[in-house]
Amino acid sequence: MSAKSTGKARWRHYNFTTAGPVDDYLYSMLPQRDPVLAEMEEYATQHDVPIVGPAVARVLQQLAMIINARTVFELGSAIGYSTIWWAQAVGETGRVIYTDGDRKNAERARGYFQRAGVTSRITIHTGDALEFLSEQKQEFDVIFNDVDKEDYPRVLRLVPPRLRKGGLFITDNVLWSGRVAEKNSTDARTKAILEFNRKLYDSRDFYTTILPIRDGLAVAVKK
Ligand SMILES: C[S@@+](CC[C@H](N)C(=O)[O-])C[C@H]1O[C@@H](n2cnc3c(N)ncnc32)[C@H](O)[C@@H]1O
Repeated sequence: MSAKSTGKARWRHYNFTTAGPVDDYLYSMLPQRDPVLAEMEEYATQHDVPIVGPAVARVLQQLAMIINARTVFELGSAIGYSTIWWAQAVGETGRVIYTDGDRKNAERARGYFQRAGVTSRITIHTGDALEFLSEQKQEFDVIFNDVDKEDYPRVLRLVPPRLRKGGLFITDNVLWSGRVAEKNSTDARTKAILEFNRKLYDSRDFYTTILPIRDGLAVAVKK
């Protein structure tokens, strides 16, 4: 059943990590978003675009504020919803790299960036995000990972040399609607996330926690 017919936003991940009423309470606490972000949330709801949504986006922006981030590389940007939150966090002199494999997404995102007044802070790259990251010579303050889940272990291998010491490697969907708790899963995406989470916690490069918000957000500080 589509989001349009149920009126529910798939990006909310209702009831997986926080019980329904508590989840509703958390969302009810969020301040109103500006009109462009609100319109994007509505578009994502109507078209089942898997954006992080406002509860997680606020965490992303807060983490960027805490480390005074000025450069963000985002893997998997879709219509640019999380990109705008990063762009607001890095300020006028900051830079955010948007990446997505889908040209239509990038075109839609470009329009939103203009209307949100953040175009000058964002570089749009259409194509494979992992390939583009592997070409980067600079160290970023934040690398945000939201690509196809099978690629998560490969992303983890690419990140350490491209993140500054004290920088944040942040990954969405690491609880995968609770499927990480299933015994002996044979699903390729679940297995990739399990491998990713294990390796991230075991890595000597990072100090990691998983925040059980929405679909699970892994926050790893580069040592
Ligand atoms: C979960 S959505 C991103 C949502 C976005 N971060 C937000 O919260 O607003 C994942 C996006 O990643 C893109 N994607 C997946 N794998 C990719 C890859 N290897 N390279 C580039 N884009 C990729 C898909 O096209 C999709 O639009």
